[in-house]
Parts: sequence; structure tokens; C-alpha cells
Amino acid sequence: MEQPLSDPWWSDAVVYQIYPRSFCDSNGDGVGDLQGIISKLDYVADLGVDVVWLSPIYASPQDDNGYDIADYEEIDPLFGTMGDFEELVAGLHRRGLKLVMDLVVNHTSDEHSWFQSSRDPQSPKREWYHWRPAREGFEPGTPGAEPTNWGSFFGGSAWAYDEASGEYYLHLFSRKQPDLNWENPEVREAVYAMMNRWVERGVDGFRMDVINLISKTMPLADGHQRPGEPYSFEVERVANGPRMVEFLEEMNAAVGIDARQLFTVGEMVMCTAEQARIYTSRAHPRLGMVFTFEHMSLDQGPGSKFELKPLHLPDLKTNLAHWQEQLGEEGWNSLYFENHDQPRVVSRFGDDSPEHRVAAAKAWATVLHLHRGTPYVYQGQEIGMTNAGFTRIKQYRDIESLNYFADATAAGVPEQTVLAGLALKSRDNARTPIPWGAGPQGGFTRGTPWLPLNANADTVNVQAALAASDGVRAHYQRLIALRHELEVIQKGRFDLLLPEDPKLWVFTRTLTSEQVLVVANMSAHLASVPVQQLPDLRDAELLLGGSGADIQTLEPWEARVYLVRG
Ligand code: NOJ
Repeated sequence: MEQPLSDPWWSDAVVYQIYPRSFCDSNGDGVGDLQGIISKLDYVADLGVDVVWLSPIYASPQDDNGYDIADYEEIDPLFGTMGDFEELVAGLHRRGLKLVMDLVVNHTSDEHSWFQSSRDPQSPKREWYHWRPAREGFEPGTPGAEPTNWGSFFGGSAWAYDEASGEYYLHLFSRKQPDLNWENPEVREAVYAMMNRWVERGVDGFRMDVINLISKTMPLADGHQRPGEPYSFEVERVANGPRMVEFLEEMNAAVGIDARQLFTVGEMVMCTAEQARIYTSRAHPRLGMVFTFEHMSLDQGPGSKFELKPLHLPDLKTNLAHWQEQLGEEGWNSLYFENHDQPRVVSRFGDDSPEHRVAAAKAWATVLHLHRGTPYVYQGQEIGMTNAGFTRIKQYRDIESLNYFADATAAGVPEQTVLAGLALKSRDNARTPIPWGAGPQGGFTRGTPWLPLNANADTVNVQAALAASDGVRAHYQRLIALRHELEVIQKGRFDLLLPEDPKLWVFTRTLTSEQVLVVANMSAHLASVPVQQLPDLRDAELLLGGSGADIQTLEPWEARVYLVRG
């Protein structure tokens, strides 16, 4: 008889993401570092989380803030030493926290020794990357001669011309991030060996950067181009290629991912719930969960993500519900609204005015954390940090934002329109340093921070959050504790109620005779609740939110969680 599949250890876990550059600077150079993180481990542990995901700290020219790795097995001196890393692992494990490292293996830096060797056409490393001659009939290096019409996610063509060898290499991100050729078994073996060495150093899992780009449709060929667009982003060509499942299973076996119960989350661009179910199916040794982008693209126009469109709440509710249903019992969801690539949720979908910021941040936390899956808290989200509020291009550092500004203004988009897009969507919104207190530079650094702090750091800071017993951080602590305590939150079936309601977000979680009901007013206005359409709440216990008063009218951004025991 088949054994029922046991639940993995992370089915009741909550992850906290640290973006090292912006967390805490111990040496006054303006950039956060490992010793800075070590000094704040009690703060992280007190939140109640189980896992820390660390964005890249490997040796890197920092063209894309460390997502361009020059040596997978060295710590960048900007962040510290291998000794600091060992201290960090020990400090986390002592506190019962696991460590998940970023694994960036769709591409390396162009300064990685593999790529440096690969520049020589005679080198055995040539086949480690995607090198191609110019398009037939074109003079190499001239416009239109790129081997395919693919665009880079950071603007321009995805091909860079290398004069020395007369060929082009593929880079789906910046030209300093050449894509590795996963068709080559030597590449795969080198990556798995490197992963194994990190596991031996104490790492408990991996967050896999754009992992569904590693299998591309071969041969690399022109994709469909939308009218008026200079490049193609045809998903079938660049993502979820035919060998995706094979590569994941091979990696899983080579690194002992399932055997060692390693935590894995694969970041997957342009991935549907149906595909995610295949990748995360518990019946197969592939991935623990994936990061989808679907729900993060509901507020963008037909062009780039910087083309703004207001969020229609039913779109978001039904999208998350679809993922809940599709991944159901077989797969597993990750739950996130923020990370180092996404703006702050309270500014993006909520209300960051002084009047509503706290309630809105709490409401967005409640709805996310009560879904089924593994919730992620991005540093600063737990204190309700807002977008950066930058108004000038000089304030930005992010390569994607700077490239977009250059391309869009050159194409004639008015500067004010471009800046408005960046103000809401730039990745720098989430990258401003953590203000630990109200002092100079928020106590983040003794020096000059690499990116300006938020203008509201005097009020929105950790010290203030710790003092507020009913604040955003205390709310996160309760949500995390509830997930640990209640099986119905970990495992209960998800059902969305009132899907078309434009203000209310209402759903239940059900496990045998227990039911949790979430009723949230996701607006800055009073909302009346059609109580007759909700489960009977006569014997319900109010777990979170509200004053216990009648549920018929919810205050702006009020979110309540009830427990009904049958
Ligand atoms: C996704 C990462 O989260 C992002 O920060 C990075 O720029 C790209 N992948 C390329 O590595």
C-alpha cells in the first residue's frame, strides 16, 4: 500500500528575508554586512520566524547588487568573511532558525572565471555559456545582427557582442550577467557540487533565482514579437523549457534535497499555477514551492511593469484563490507580497498615509498569512515600511530602474511619467536601509548609506515598532504564532467567499470540524459586511482584529480572524 505523503517541516514555517545591503551596517561603509545581521539576530528570532533567507553575499562586482556572482564560494568582502558566515550560521542555528541561501545559477557574473575562460573560443568552457554567431546575412556587431530577437529583462537586446571572438553571448538580465548553458552536463555538475559544499557549510536550503529560465527551448530561435515592440519576450522560448522537470529532479538527487529535507523555493517568471503544481508536486522530488509573479502583475499596464494600472481587488483575491486551489493537497504555495524586487505593499496596494498606514499594513499581513502555504516576511515589512518616496532619478541605484529611465525617456515618454512609474514600482522602494531607531541615518550606518533612508524613518523605525504593543510588528508576531499553533491555518482547505466584492476580502480555512474565517476591509472607507452570507459566528472566538463589537460594519482597513469550533 502507498504510504501517505508526510508534511514537510516547513508546512508550519514562516520565512524572513534579509537583503544584506540594507539590513544593518557594522563597519560604517554605508552597506549592510554579515556582522550587522549577527548583531540583530535576537530581533529576527523574536518575531517568531523559523527560516531566514539571505539574498546573495557571494563575491560579486555588484552590477545587480550581488545577483551577478563572480565566485560562488567566496563571501564578498563588502559583506564580510567566511568566518563571519560561519558565525552567522551558528548564531541562527543556536536560536532554532534555519538558513536559506540565494542560489543564482541561471547566470553568473561576466567576471566569473568560468565566463572569463569561456571568452576564448578554443576553451573547453566555451560551451558553458550560450555563444552564437551573428544572424545570417548581417555584419557582426551591427544593429539587427543579434542571433535572436530576444529582449533582456533589464532593457535592450539579450545578446552582447564580443569583438574579440566575433560572437555574441546571451544575457537575459544585464550584459554583466551571462546565462549559463544548462544543456551542458559539466555546468550542472559544477552547480550541484557547489550546492553540496554550501550544505556542508550548514545551509538548510536554497531560494533559486529565476530557476525556470535554466531550461530554454533549443535551438535558441526568434520568438514572437508584439507589434511595436523592439524585442521578443515569448515565454515558450526562454522559460519553462522542455528539460525543466528533468533538471530539477537531477539537482534534487545530486544534492539530496528531499533526502536531506532541504528547503527549496524556485523563483519562476511567467509560471502558471498549473506548471507550479507540477514543479511542487509532493509525489516527486522537485521543489518545495515556487515564487509566482502572477499576482504581482495585476497592477501593470500592457507594457512594462512601470506602466501603472490601479489594482482591482477581485483580480488579486481570485488569483490567489486559483493558486490555492490548483496547488491544493498535491503542491505547496509560497505566500508573498514583498521582497527586494517588489515595492512596499502598504504603499502599493494599501494606504501609507499617517492616518491609515498601520491598519493597512496589518490588514495586508492578515490576508496573506491566513492563506495556505509558506508566508514570507521581507525585512521592514514587519514594521510597515513604505515606498522610498524618491522624486529624482539621482536618488535611484537599481540597474533596472536606471535602464528603464534611460530607455523610456529616450523613447519620448515624459520624464514625469517615468518618475511616477518608478516612484510606485522601482525595486529601490524595498531596498532603502532599515531604520533601527530615530537617530542619524536611523542607526543603520555610521557612514553614508548606499541608498537614502525613507523620509519617514524618524517615525517608521524598529525602535518605535518595538514600543507599539498594538503595532504592525506585534501583529506579525501574533500571525506567526497563530500559524504555529493552529493546524487549520497550516493545512485547512481554502475557500474564497464574496469573490467579486471590491472592498472585502473574505475567506475560510477548514480542517475537519475547525474553521477559520477571515473578514477584511481592504479600503480606507467603512465597509458593511453581508453577515447573512458568512458562516454562523454565534459561537466563534475572535482571534485577531476588531474590538469584539458587531461585525456588520468594519472600520477602514479592519481585518478580523474568527475561529469556529464545530
Ligand atoms: C531575480 C532577483 O530577485 C533579482 O533581484 C535579480 O535582478 C534577477 N533575478 C536576476 O538575477
